[in-house]
Amino acid sequence: MRGTLENVEGVPMADAIVKNWQQIKTFEARPGDILISTYPKSGTTWIQEIVDLIMNNGDEEICRRAPIYERIPFIELMHLMKPGLEEINAMPSPRVLKTHLPVQLIPASFWEHNCKVIYVARNAKDTVTSFYHFDHMVKIHPEPGTFPQYLERFMNGNVGWGSWYDHVKGFWEWKDKRDILYLLYEDLKRNSLEEIRKVMRFLDKDLSEEVLKKIVHLSSFAQMRKNPMANNSTFPKEIMDQTDMSFMRKGTVGDWKNLFTAEQSKRFEEHYKQQMKNTTLIFPSAI
Ligand code: A3P
Repeated sequence: MRGTLENVEGVPMADAIVKNWQQIKTFEARPGDILISTYPKSGTTWIQEIVDLIMNNGDEEICRRAPIYERIPFIELMHLMKPGLEEINAMPSPRVLKTHLPVQLIPASFWEHNCKVIYVARNAKDTVTSFYHFDHMVKIHPEPGTFPQYLERFMNGNVGWGSWYDHVKGFWEWKDKRDILYLLYEDLKRNSLEEIRKVMRFLDKDLSEEVLKKIVHLSSFAQMRKNPMANNSTFPKEIMDQTDMSFMRKGTVGDWKNLFTAEQSKRFEEHYKQQMKNTTLIFPSAI
């Protein structure tokens, strides 16, 4: 059985999430909570693993204490899987939490307590490529259909968690008004050490160069892919079914070239220019 998309304050979201909207909206953040925020498929799991490693001084044993989705709970799914609200509330501070909500839907308590937010954005073409494959596995979302159909939906913002354009621009506009570290997947990929150092500083941690290099290694695609505590392989099947495909797919920049036709790419870029004309946010062009 596949889920449907419903509107929450103008943003399409899985009906399974919308059912619990009041609890999500009124989620009580605490001072010191750290929020990892992303549009889906932008490297969320990657930054989750990095943040957990930084918070635990690169101790790989501690970071294997539980699957990543238990170490860093996903707010929108707290009524569908563990950890639920009760377990999240029982976690010691500082908690690290995950969300895909657009900036205007982030529970107000995070802003009231001036919580630190780490945002990761990924270029649109790779995001839609990854999302298209992912939506074959995600049971709470409608069937993705063919790629041309899916691409239209993505361009119209008619996919789970809504418009990519609004999401990345929304956090970009808020980044100087709040305590938000805005990162790009492509930078993380190209220069992991420097980007991880930025995250460390943002979290007020001071780790040696040796520990930072260890974190680069442990959070690499190859290492995470074979680590059952980091690769989401035990994620509840009713929500994400990995029978035919695994969550850790490719982890590269530019995979869109294997999916888009030249015509789709041209049309997408024209639409992109329109959507992004009023923002200073720029993704690396050489992809
Ligand atoms: P692909 O589908 O392009 O392979 P999210 O965690 O937000 O759902 O993002 C998932 C995407 O990030 C997937 O992209 C996944 O392979 C990629 N990813 C996960 N861990 C990664 C890592 N350590 N390095 C690079 N990419 C990673």
